[in-house]
Amino acid sequence: MLYRARAGGVRLTIETPEAVRWAGNAIEYLDQRSLPHETIVRRAVSAEQLEDAIRTLAVRGAPCIGVFGAYGVALLRSQIADDAKFQAAVARVRGARPTAVNLRWAVERVLNSKDMLAEAQAIHAEQREVDRRIAEAAAELIERDATIYTHCHTGSLATAGGGTALGTILFAARAGKRPHVFVGETRPLLQGARLTYYELSQAGVDATLVVDSAAAISMQRKEIDLVIVGADRIARNGDTANKVGTYGLAILAAHHRIPFYVAAPRSTFDFDLATGRDIPIEERSADEVAGFGETRSALPGANAYNPAFDVTPNHLITAFVTEYGILRPPYGESIPDLQMRPNMSALLSSR
Ligand code: MRU
Repeated sequence: MLYRARAGGVRLTIETPEAVRWAGNAIEYLDQRSLPHETIVRRAVSAEQLEDAIRTLAVRGAPCIGVFGAYGVALLRSQIADDAKFQAAVARVRGARPTAVNLRWAVERVLNSKDMLAEAQAIHAEQREVDRRIAEAAAELIERDATIYTHCHTGSLATAGGGTALGTILFAARAGKRPHVFVGETRPLLQGARLTYYELSQAGVDATLVVDSAAAISMQRKEIDLVIVGADRIARNGDTANKVGTYGLAILAAHHRIPFYVAAPRSTFDFDLATGRDIPIEERSADEVAGFGETRSALPGANAYNPAFDVTPNHLITAFVTEYGILRPPYGESIPDLQMRPNMSALLSSR
């Protein structure tokens, strides 16, 4: 551990460290499990530690685990000369979480490059630019004084950049649009309560925390203008995997005729998958449902189904917000069109 600070129930005055940082012989990362009450920076120096950080959600959010995995591959290459051992170590990192396609995408991009560290650094730098473009693209969807519902956490710590869905909200706030945000707590690991509410309050944005099961009444009584969430994997037809609960929100939004937007970079689109049916859904331990941290709520050994993600069918999604602009239905045309666009590294190097 390098760094530790206690919030003690008051607003932190320190600058939050970066989500992920290359540190030469290690990768430093902010441990998202202990936020917002403690700020702890840790170091990963082995495949086992890289895998553990991703698996335990110390590093989380689809683009952020992509950046972390990219640096991880560069680190492992600098340590392991034997090719078979290196491939086995990389497989541990790539397989640490199955749903977010960004991890596989980033690992493969680094593996196929000539200079692995330079490629990982490029992925990290591009993510900042991608997030900025997503936020700009969403500006036309967010009116002044909008009331917005969001789920899970899609801010800077989830991307190692500026954030996707939450980035669009923070951008609107910086533009003086005064958004009000309903934040679903996001059972069972409370990314909404712990991270999104924290990031919004740090930025001085008006936020209201609700339990996930209050989403319906919030939409019925609180004049929600739009829902915006992130994504972990989007199939070629627009079916979208994101934090469990997203599918239910999309159904509720359709019932209440509220636009439902997904903000995600192109690296979250899996152009090889025709529909969401084949997206692998991570199932996590029953312990996460039966309690939180040290506190147990259910009987010891309680049986639980704990999918970390669900898949929202394409017809419930009003539009996608990407770094290439807004994609609307029919997704059978707009998503293949996205695939044909020049990639961000080409765009950045041509500037
Ligand atoms: O299990 P998590 O916390 O990694 O899940 C994160 C999400 O579902 C996010 O919405 C998604 O990764 C997009 S992050 C910009």
